[in-house]
Amino acid sequence: MIEIAIDGTAASGKGTLAKKLAKKYGFVHLDTGLLYRKVANELIVKKKHTSLNIEKYSFEIARNLNFIEIKKENLRSEETAKLASLIATYPRLREILNSKQKEFVGNNKKKFHGCILDGRDIGTKILPNADFKFFIDACIEIRAKRRLLEKNISFLHENDEKCMLQSLIREMKERDKLDSSRITSPLVPAIDAHVIDTSFIDADELLLKVTKIIEGI
Ligand code: CDP
Repeated sequence: MIEIAIDGTAASGKGTLAKKLAKKYGFVHLDTGLLYRKVANELIVKKKHTSLNIEKYSFEIARNLNFIEIKKENLRSEETAKLASLIATYPRLREILNSKQKEFVGNNKKKFHGCILDGRDIGTKILPNADFKFFIDACIEIRAKRRLLEKNISFLHENDEKCMLQSLIREMKERDKLDSSRITSPLVPAIDAHVIDTSFIDADELLLKVTKIIEGI
């Protein structure tokens, strides 16, 4: 089974790339961020996110996590992402979610010719022997604009849009900082990863660049 590991900063284009590659090659894809977001969301729904026992509750939720139940549309808020980033610092939680990700790969080995996982520690931790590793990044202003566009909000006043953009820049900077500075599996490119800056290229150009690397063109 061909393994492709894609890591990178928030809204860098890694998720779109992973989806496009999976479609192009017929490979199975797992957005591993959704696992962290799902645990965070469950904590919020169950009102356990402010509990002193938040770690213990997050482990319980992670252990019972069912991939099929993960509905993406409820999980995209920055509140969920912020809490996901906080709980992602718990080594035990990462262990639980890591084995779920490895299980996912194992279960799909016979069904697909390849798998693509995107997240923060795929090339360094989950698929250390991946056939191809990519680390995707872009400047913060452009990433925040992309995230804002994803939200598809119609603003009445230009100032409201500016405010939202500024707050997204702040939140994403904080999350990148926490993700890169944590002790367990920090967000860093694997030494053998192809590092690609998408600040000035769109999703199709990125796909072309990456497929050229994969196909050795
Ligand atoms: O879509 P975006 O890149 O903004 O975030 P995501 O991939 O959904 O991940 C949300 C948060 O989960 C990240 O900020 C990380 O803290 C955490 N995460 C992680 O630690 N390891 C992963 N493999 C995936 C996500």
